[in-house]
Amino acid sequence: MRFSTLAVVAASAASAVAEDKYLGFNSGATTDAGVIKKQADFEKEFAAQQKLTGAPGVFNAVRLYTNIQPTTESSPEPIEAFAAAIKTKTKLLLGMWTSGTKSVDGELSALEKAIKTYGKDFTDLVVGISVGSEDLYRSSADGVSNKAGVGAEASVLTQFIKDTRARLSGTALKNTPIGHVDTWTAWTNSSNAEFIEAVDFLGADLYPYYESGANIGLNNAVENAFPIFETAMNATIKAAGNKPVWITETGWPTTGPTWNSAVPSNKNAEKYWQEVGCQYFGQLHTFWYIQRDSNPDNEMKFGLSPKLDGTPLYNLTCPSVPKKTTSSSSTSNSTSSGNGTSTTGSGNSTGSGSANSSTSAPEGVSAGAFTAVSKTTLVLSAVFAVAAWML
Ligand SMILES: *[C@@H]1O[C@H](CO)[C@@H](O)[C@H](O)[C@H]1NC(C)=O
Ligand SMILES: *[C@@H]1O[C@H](CO)[C@@H](O)[C@H](O)[C@H]1NC(C)=O
Ligand SMILES: *[C@@H]1O[C@H](CO)[C@@H](O)[C@H](O)[C@H]1NC(C)=O
Ligand SMILES: *[C@@H]1O[C@H](CO)[C@@H](O)[C@H](O)[C@H]1NC(C)=O
Ligand SMILES: *[C@@H]1O[C@H](CO)[C@@H](O)[C@H](O)[C@H]1NC(C)=O
Ligand SMILES: *[C@@H]1O[C@H](CO)[C@@H](O)[C@H](O)[C@H]1NC(C)=O
Ligand SMILES: *[C@@H]1O[C@H](CO)[C@@H](O)[C@H](O)[C@H]1NC(C)=O
Repeated sequence: MRFSTLAVVAASAASAVAEDKYLGFNSGATTDAGVIKKQADFEKEFAAQQKLTGAPGVFNAVRLYTNIQPTTESSPEPIEAFAAAIKTKTKLLLGMWTSGTKSVDGELSALEKAIKTYGKDFTDLVVGISVGSEDLYRSSADGVSNKAGVGAEASVLTQFIKDTRARLSGTALKNTPIGHVDTWTAWTNSSNAEFIEAVDFLGADLYPYYESGANIGLNNAVENAFPIFETAMNATIKAAGNKPVWITETGWPTTGPTWNSAVPSNKNAEKYWQEVGCQYFGQLHTFWYIQRDSNPDNEMKFGLSPKLDGTPLYNLTCPSVPKKTTSSSSTSNSTSSGNGTSTTGSGNSTGSGSANSSTSAPEGVSAGAFTAVSKTTLVLSAVFAVAAWML
């Protein structure tokens, strides 16, 4: 219960968050230089995130994008993040890459191998499994027009979820919640309502930074980030019915291009953390984007402690009462032509190299051809496509 200790110490100036909700970061399979991470890299990252100065709790969870260590796809080996998580006692939201593939056999083989090799040390850390990441977004009309990359349809994902449940039924992970991660616009799309029945939880990716106006009717200046996030989250929770919603990606870039009215900076990223993060930490399981960037092709950098030394680029301490900016005169509709959607791209770091993704970033390594949205396409269409896969 070190949390309560922290809470007492910090009570006067800042708030600590409830302990039963996971606090974590996304973690891609490569570094921001595109180098495939090894166990030591993951260990350093997972240790650093647990001692972030000023954080409102211990960030001891990570969300991964694949079970497979890059370059071993032909004979899948468990991603080295697993061994690092065991070493550092880091909870795991596992990810299975499901786009551009007819089967999740490789992902499941790597997972079975990990269960066999590491046993309870590993399975006790697994808090959830996401079958897929933004596949519905990529296969939607918006994803296609944004050239976001290969996606997968709900029927395919439903089958992969069934396959996963069947393969894990005789293992220690048989009761682990199995969900899917997608953009909030995919979850609120009524065409996907039936798919929600197939999951145990909904992982939602929400980036007010990339919301240029069309979905919510507010310009995406950081002053509007909280109301944009809350509107999107409320809509997702409504679509979810009785299923839990986890925040699987959100964040604000510190550097990179201005996106309509959204300006990257440490100051704005701090404001976003303090308003949106501090409001939701402890309320919903949260996997922030990101401690250290991992996509060299992404112009926007979201990493809040890129040196992995526990020192953040901005103030992570939460106010005792989270600040909420409410809509006001500053919240007029964007006049720019955006079709905002929050999202993320996909990717395969060894992939076709088709361009510079904008947004958060793909660099995946397992299946799924990586076709990032080109900067030109993004700017012209003012649409957003965050690439999630690797981060
Ligand atoms: C809604 O979902 C359907 C089915 O996945 C997809 O075809 C359609 O393009 C989506 N609509 C939007 C606006 O993304
Ligand atoms: C903003 O856009 C939303 C959705 O299109 C619309 O309902 C609302 O009336 C608009 N608000 C203003 C101030 O134009
Ligand atoms: C979101 O839902 C919460 C809880 O029901 C409510 O207090 C809040 O006003 C809603 N926000 C928006 C923007 O709809
Ligand atoms: C960091 O933010 C918290 C909460 O807003 C505030 O109380 C504290 O004074 C800030 N610390 C610094 C060094 O600015
Ligand atoms: C938004 O996207 C829709 C569907 O893709 C398209 O028909 C519409 O023209 C877009 N609007 C803008 C302002 O780009
Ligand atoms: C990544 O993409 C490239 C090019 O599309 C493809 O040749 C390769 O097989 C993909 N790798 C994986 C692991 O899917
Ligand atoms: C990607 O960005 C780099 C640096 O901005 C640029 O040199 C390169 O031409 C871009 N590639 C594509 C395919 O747009």
